[in-house]
Amino acid sequence: MDKTGSNPKFTNRSPLQEEPALLELFAQSLRELYWAENHLVKTLPKMALASSSRLAGAIEEHLEETKMQVSRLEEIFHITNQKMLAQKCEAMECLTKEGEILIESTDPGTATRDVAVIMASQKVEHHEIACYGTLAQLAKTLGLEETAALLEQSLEEEKAADVKLTEIAENDVNYEATMES
Ligand SMILES: [Fe+2]
Ligand SMILES: [Fe+2]
Repeated sequence: MDKTGSNPKFTNRSPLQEEPALLELFAQSLRELYWAENHLVKTLPKMALASSSRLAGAIEEHLEETKMQVSRLEEIFHITNQKMLAQKCEAMECLTKEGEILIESTDPGTATRDVAVIMASQKVEHHEIACYGTLAQLAKTLGLEETAALLEQSLEEEKAADVKLTEIAENDVNYEATMES
C-alpha cells in the first residue's frame, strides 16, 4: 500500500490484462459456482418436498433467491466478457449426495427428517458462503467492483438463509425431534 491507501501493484494497470493467472483462477471459480447454483435449482425442490411446511417454505423462498443468483452469475459472465460456461463443482456434488443419503436415513413426516434436511442445507449454505466470500474478495483485488457488488448481494442472501435455518432448528425442529426419540 502507498500513502494514499491504494495498492501500487494495480495502479494505472488493467488487472484483466496484467494478472492472467489470478483472472483464470477467478474465472474457474465462477464457472464452478455457476454449476453449483444450477445444480441447487434442481435439488432444492427435492429438499422442500422432504420437509415439514415451515421448513419447506424457507427452502422454496431460497430456491427463488437461488434462481436470481444464477442470473447474477450470468450477468458477471457478461460484464467480464467471458463465455457462460458451467464447470462441475465436485464439492457441491458431494455435499448434495451426502445430504440425500442423510435425509433418506430418516422417516418421512418426522421432525428428525427436518433436522436432517437442515443439516444437509446448512452444509451447502456454508460452502456457498465460502465461495461467494472468497470470490467477492478476489473480484475486488482484480478491480472488478461491479462484479464484487453482485457477488456480495448473493453472499448476503446465503448468510440470511443460513441464519433462517438455524432459527427454525432452534425454535421448532430440534426440540420436536427430541420428543420422537
Ligand atoms: Fe446460492
Ligand atoms: Fe444458498
